[in-house]
Amino acid sequence: MPRPILCTIHPGALRHNLERVRRAVRESRVWAVVKANAYGHGIERVYDALRGADGFALLDLAEAERVRALGWRGPILLLEGVFEPRDLELCSRLALWHAVHCDEQIDWLAAHKTQQPHRVFLKMNSGMNRLGFAPARMRAAWTRLAALPQVEEVSLMMHFSDADGPRGIDAAMAAFDEATRELPGERSLANSAAVLRHAEATRADWVRPGIVLYGGSPDHPEHDAAHWQLQPTMTLATRLIGVQALDAGDTVGYGSRFTAEAPMRIGVAAAGYADGYPRHAPTGTPVLVNGVRTRVVGRVSMDMLAVDLDPVPGAALGSEVVLWGRSAGTGAVLPIDEVAQPCGTIGYELMCAVAPRVPFSVEDNGG
Ligand SMILES: Cc1ncc(COP(=O)(O)O)c(C=O)c1O
Repeated sequence: MPRPILCTIHPGALRHNLERVRRAVRESRVWAVVKANAYGHGIERVYDALRGADGFALLDLAEAERVRALGWRGPILLLEGVFEPRDLELCSRLALWHAVHCDEQIDWLAAHKTQQPHRVFLKMNSGMNRLGFAPARMRAAWTRLAALPQVEEVSLMMHFSDADGPRGIDAAMAAFDEATRELPGERSLANSAAVLRHAEATRADWVRPGIVLYGGSPDHPEHDAAHWQLQPTMTLATRLIGVQALDAGDTVGYGSRFTAEAPMRIGVAAAGYADGYPRHAPTGTPVLVNGVRTRVVGRVSMDMLAVDLDPVPGAALGSEVVLWGRSAGTGAVLPIDEVAQPCGTIGYELMCAVAPRVPFSVEDNGG
């Protein structure tokens, strides 16, 4: 029998979250962001549920090929554009739309021989200083691109650095509006946080939500997933493979990081950092045992972690342990953001880090 750990994807929750985005931005078309293998879920596993989107946005060309291989004929956007000139051949062959964020990408396009002119998204750097043209350079870049016979249509995009926090979107919006005021073309601005927190102000032809489709709150802990009416799309669950009765003073795990203050029972769950559960999860990180919320105790090891069974007196060998997501037994939910926070990270990272050795399944009732 294989180890009992399993990562389950919930298509019904993906559909629900996509619908949640649609309700927030009724007039906009929606790119479903499926980069990083659909935030760790697996492109093939989410495709059916997310094909109700207007397009797929990602950045790896091999992932774009996978989306086309699934039969998707609609738009696909390469969020970082091409990485080298020969990537443009694949863009032509697969009809990929691509971001253009630097002069070199325009040079490559100008030298590219294609029968099929490309649709490009000219990207402005609105303050994050990652990718994109400075506002003052947008007009010149647009003029150059629009004059190329290789280019069919120029759209405009930018990415918010602070849509999830107190700095907000005002400065970025002002810079974008100023730099692009007289430029024609469709616009794409909003990520998840902007869609949920600033829908009116960031309204545009296209939105680019990622994390909200996967049920993560983009601004946790200010707001949790329940506040935004999002459902978890991934459950990482396992079972207890051991139970120990501790006396006061007994310790747990490597480094004896946890000491029992009184007699207690702990369970040993078949999940560790080699499965993608963070090793730095401290004692107290929430976990569900038989749907009851309890905590991790002691250091997470490669293949196992220990949980406090005092709140779950009925727990025994084989009991369900949900590390994040939804309990199949009770329906109780442990939001991934609540696991990520004590680990000093965000739900995005946990989703993306589920290890290759973990088997996946897709819930077949769509629920
Ligand atoms: C350019 C771009 N657009 C959209 C997204 C989606 O962001 P989020 O998952 O926060 O909605 C990302 C993700 O980092 C991105 O890089």
